[in-house]
Amino acid sequence: MSQEIVLILARASDGTIGNDGAMPWHIPADLKRFKALTLGENEGAKPMIMGRKTFESLPGLLPGRRHIVLTRDRDWQAEGAEIAHDVDAALALAGQGEVAVIGGAEIYALFMPLAHRIELTEVHGHYNGDTTIPHPGHMWVETAREDHPAVDGKPAYAFVTLRRAL
Ligand SMILES: NC(=O)c1ccc[n+]([C@@H]2O[C@H](COP(=O)([O-])OP(=O)(O)OC[C@H]3O[C@@H](n4cnc5c(N)ncnc54)[C@H](OP(=O)(O)O)[C@@H]3O)[C@@H](O)[C@H]2O)c1
Repeated sequence: MSQEIVLILARASDGTIGNDGAMPWHIPADLKRFKALTLGENEGAKPMIMGRKTFESLPGLLPGRRHIVLTRDRDWQAEGAEIAHDVDAALALAGQGEVAVIGGAEIYALFMPLAHRIELTEVHGHYNGDTTIPHPGHMWVETAREDHPAVDGKPAYAFVTLRRAL
């Protein structure tokens, strides 16, 4: 079996992915999708790789999933976190099969060149956040799209699957 690296990310039209340590929107369907993608349906939960800041922004440990946390701090530890100090160590901890890379910006930048697939939520709004990432770019082809209109004060959004162009 080989390793499939999947970036799961929600990005606004202006590149915002976060502000003040949190996501600046609340889209319940996106949280539900994140849960489905990381827990897996039939094939089981995916190990999750994340940055130390994203780990600390979580409301708590996400049930049923492994939390592999990248930090440069050799003394850092947290209950439920498996610690890695570089990309190779994080991927080795994750093992074979699908690996979910769940942010934030620093960690997406590290794994983007290695990723096989991106599960992108396009949030159709401008948030002027303090944490942004560039659009994945033309190295990627869209293989699925599900558009959702704005309702109940929530922004319009789209669930998009991108695969690396050959
Ligand atoms: N929209 C989304 O889909 C999404 C997803 C996740 C997060 N977010 C948002 O993104 C923001 C956090 O992103 P961020 O970029 O500030 O932080 P981050 O990527 O979550 O974490 C950064 C930390 O990762 C560690 N790190 C980075 N590069 C490393 C390397 N090469 N080797 C070892 N460790 C390394 C460092 O930890 P130490 O400082 O401990 O050394 C660094 O401070 C928050 O606002 C969060 O809400 C959004």
